Amino acid sequence: MLMSSSKKLPLGILASGRGSNLQSILDASQSGQLDAQVAVVISDNIHAQALDRARKMGIPAVVCERSHFASKEAFEQSIVKELHRHHVELVCLAGFMRLIGKTLLTAYPHKILNIHPALLPAFPGLSAQSQALDYGVKVAGCTVHIVDDRVDHGPIILQSAVEVRDDDTVDALSARILEEEHRIYPQAIQLFAENRVRMEGRHIKLRSKGET
Ligand code: GAR
Repeated sequence: MLMSSSKKLPLGILASGRGSNLQSILDASQSGQLDAQVAVVISDNIHAQALDRARKMGIPAVVCERSHFASKEAFEQSIVKELHRHHVELVCLAGFMRLIGKTLLTAYPHKILNIHPALLPAFPGLSAQSQALDYGVKVAGCTVHIVDDRVDHGPIILQSAVEVRDDDTVDALSARILEEEHRIYPQAIQLFAENRVRMEGRHIKLRSKGET
């Protein structure tokens, strides 16, 4: 994907809940830090706060509920239809709590990103922050990666580390990790907007700015 200097990379955001990562992307886009703009927000949860955040900024907000479809394939086809309708080129999972299936992966090969609140490959899956505290790690953090057919597994684009304190609670640690999530997710998207991401197997190599 080669972006011309004037064209903004159209993003499709998939979110199931609060949408604070969506907000950080919307804010970065609006303040001109991103050569990308959110074209559509899709949620599998009609009550997701993410939908309100999108509507507030005049961005199309679409609900695709899994229970309305006979199969996972039909559910994902409806999401792909919405993404295509809005000319999305990069899909960002922002607290989208579903395993991505073949239909979406085929429609957007290596063009689906996820943010996870742990330093992968440690602590994939749910409640990553409490997994980290329970294990007793001294450093936690977050990861932006390309989505593949396994949970929280694909090639890593950016990570940020956060110190774990002796008196940490899940809420306190989650809040500090979230600050880093809000910083590195827009950064990772900008790398795609600048066409700087090159994938060699599991390894992501970053081209320097302007390099083709
Ligand atoms: C974020 O902490 C994100 O990293 C996590 O869900 C939260 C969503 O918050 N995602 C995962 O755990 C994916 N495995 P948000 O709705 O406020 O962006």
